[in-house]
Amino acid sequence: MENISIPTIIHLPKFLDQRGNLSFIEEYKHIPFKIKRTYWIYDVPGGESRGGHAYRNTDEFIVALSGAFEVILDDGEKKESFLLNRSYYGLYVPKGYWREMVNFSTNSVGLILAPTLYEPDDYIRDYDEFLKLKKKP
Ligand code: TYD
Repeated sequence: MENISIPTIIHLPKFLDQRGNLSFIEEYKHIPFKIKRTYWIYDVPGGESRGGHAYRNTDEFIVALSGAFEVILDDGEKKESFLLNRSYYGLYVPKGYWREMVNFSTNSVGLILAPTLYEPDDYIRDYDEFLKLKKKP
């Protein structure tokens, strides 16, 4: 899979079965990176928001494994909202986007795959700093 530089909804394989459906993700094949870390967000009170920050060097792939939430991505000039509400597709978020996850439905679960280990210095948590970095030529 070639590199993707803009936020993209990626549809995953899905095997529909009366015993229950199945989907999967393979690194480099369905997402454009090698998976080094995975984390999930759960027990979020309905309507809650998370993740007002950007990463300097980390891309992510976000799937709503259960329930629904919206991911709002901001490139410093415009905002775009993506509704995630099925477990057979996800959102690829390239580095350098301010991202918020909002409107979690009760009992939703968000799975996030990343190509890096957790690194606090990779976070930009100040929106004004983010805008300044984006304005650099
Ligand atoms: P944080 O990224 O601040 O959550 P949000 O997406 O809502 O901004 O993460 C919350 C806490 O979890 C923070 O103290 C750091 C810790 N954490 C890890 O230790 N490893 C990880 O991979 C992640 C994503 C978070």
